[in-house]
Amino acid sequence: MKRDTTVLLDEKRIFKPNVETVERAHVKNWETEIEKGKNFEKYWEEKAEDLDWFERWDQVLDESNKPFFKWFVNGKINLAYNAVDRWINTEKRNQVAILYVNERGDEKKLTYYELYREVNKMANGLKNLGVKKGDTVSMYLPMCPELLISMLACNKIGAVHSVVYSGLSVGAFVERMNDAKVKILITADGTYRRGKIIDLKKISDEAMLQCPTIETVIVVKHTGSKIDISDLSGREIFYERLIEGEPAECECEPMDSEDPLFILYTSGSTGKPKGVLHTTGGYMVGVSTTLKNIFDIHENDMWWCTGDIGWITGHSYVIYGPLLLGTTTVVYEGAPDYPDPGAWWNIVEKYGVTKFYTAPTAIRHLMRFGNKYPNLYNLSSLKILGTVGEPINPEAWMWYYKNVGKEKAPIMDTWWQTETGMHLISPLPSAYLKPGSATKAVPGVDADVVDEDGNPVPLGKGGYLVIKKPWPAMFRTLYEDEERYKDVYWNQIPGYYKAGDMARKDEDGYFWIQGRSDDVLKIAGHRVGTSEVESAFVSHPAVVEAAVIGKHDPIKGQVIKAFVILREGYKLKTKLIEELNKHVRYELGPVAVIGDIEQVESLPKTRSGKIMRRVLRARELGEDVGDTSTLEE
Ligand code: WTA
Repeated sequence: MKRDTTVLLDEKRIFKPNVETVERAHVKNWETEIEKGKNFEKYWEEKAEDLDWFERWDQVLDESNKPFFKWFVNGKINLAYNAVDRWINTEKRNQVAILYVNERGDEKKLTYYELYREVNKMANGLKNLGVKKGDTVSMYLPMCPELLISMLACNKIGAVHSVVYSGLSVGAFVERMNDAKVKILITADGTYRRGKIIDLKKISDEAMLQCPTIETVIVVKHTGSKIDISDLSGREIFYERLIEGEPAECECEPMDSEDPLFILYTSGSTGKPKGVLHTTGGYMVGVSTTLKNIFDIHENDMWWCTGDIGWITGHSYVIYGPLLLGTTTVVYEGAPDYPDPGAWWNIVEKYGVTKFYTAPTAIRHLMRFGNKYPNLYNLSSLKILGTVGEPINPEAWMWYYKNVGKEKAPIMDTWWQTETGMHLISPLPSAYLKPGSATKAVPGVDADVVDEDGNPVPLGKGGYLVIKKPWPAMFRTLYEDEERYKDVYWNQIPGYYKAGDMARKDEDGYFWIQGRSDDVLKIAGHRVGTSEVESAFVSHPAVVEAAVIGKHDPIKGQVIKAFVILREGYKLKTKLIEELNKHVRYELGPVAVIGDIEQVESLPKTRSGKIMRRVLRARELGEDVGDTSTLEE
């Protein structure tokens, strides 16, 4: 992976916080807040007071059964109550909660009161289908209001949701449904993407053939397609039919702080995808606090996070964080550059977006079209910007800072993961910024860079990124796989959470994240597991064996480079390359962007048969292969 790490190492620019930003901010002094956060249990306990609990906790943190931590022990709370119900008897009742807009310019606004009614109807609809506390409901939906409503409806009645990103395709979808043994699926006829409608129903129909546990499929008519009742099978029902005539009131299920809230699958380097399990109380505290302080959210903000709800960024910061804070959240369906590369800036101007959060890959993509597009719009409403998903190269940082933020809006480079649930390393608006650095651990969090044995490495040297103390929004386990939870994250560097990233700290204690230390790829900010891609290749009849590494790409960060061993009689010609591309896309979806396929006769393996991707990577980059003593031949 050829990244411009040399630039990162030399980056010396420092940007001071601007006075107006600091005056407005909830937290006026970053360093003082970090100091306060060192008393971390007290710090998080104070933050928990901002939420409405049915019953107070009797212990902030229970560490008696490490690494199975518990937060706000015995507290009783409900997420939907805090995100929706508690606002309807306040002046927020008529404030827009969700502002849905798509690339065609259609918009739909739901006030907090309207959202309340919709969530209750859906919660009642789900109850009628027999959904109870603890059951898992899955969503395979575009960025549409019904997705947020369904997730909140689950919270209301204590059901656990498992959202599958709508850009994943049949193979990935089936694997996730079956692992979570999902009974109810909510899907839609389609989604808008670059002027086309992608037929989600067709993908889910194909997947359903292989998902025996699913009893009911709820279908949202989102794109106004012509499907009608006669097109539905016996187990399918339209969303609008399900909620028709349902009462707009529904009791909230009092949830234990540690009751499961959702499962979200993410990719690892080996084996099947991991079902990351988050629980209720701590997640709510962590997510609302970080959003409030890092993006300095106030009631009248127009918040826009462009991440998809199918990933953790969307869970925490499109839906839950903003609604828990009672602000307006923009939900956008479509591509950043459709109908033209000014599409996003048009939305910023039109709705007066104040805080904007996106991925470095999107910035690099839009940067290609020059300054023209951001300059066509009035972006003066923007007060704070943010990025997430991969390291941002200083060049993209500067472009974003100058052309989008007009050198007034600070950039919050937030490092975190599906597993962490909330931002863990990020500046606050009152911080001194260095382009390309996510700066320091957020207040109340303890992060460090260490060697294999857990000893801190000297400043400036690379090492493993670890988190040294539990944090409230941490995942609690991997679904039905406690061993893997312990092995992958907690047993590798004893006592610490191993994040799977390499990093270094500079002389000011700022973190510079250098990318994954495992074989997980980051393609356009999406997390893609090498083993999932390899299985997709191998499921094609022409392929005997495959190994996949990440290859640098100037826009997407990384794309796939695959090495394949072909069955007798097959040759890697244009037609087969096309077929393999199509096949992997069918199995995994458009997230799996293939840059290059190379036919090989053998793959470097350890004596125990594990593919040494490190060797392939080094060869590809023309670097030293390093220690190969465990290599088979
Ligand atoms: C990477 C996304 C550098 C990192 C929220 C991490 C980042 C993985 C940053 C998690 C950042 C995320 N700077 N790298 N600001 N944010 N990453 O689970 O490699 O999709 O481990 O969560 O993204 O990806 P995930």
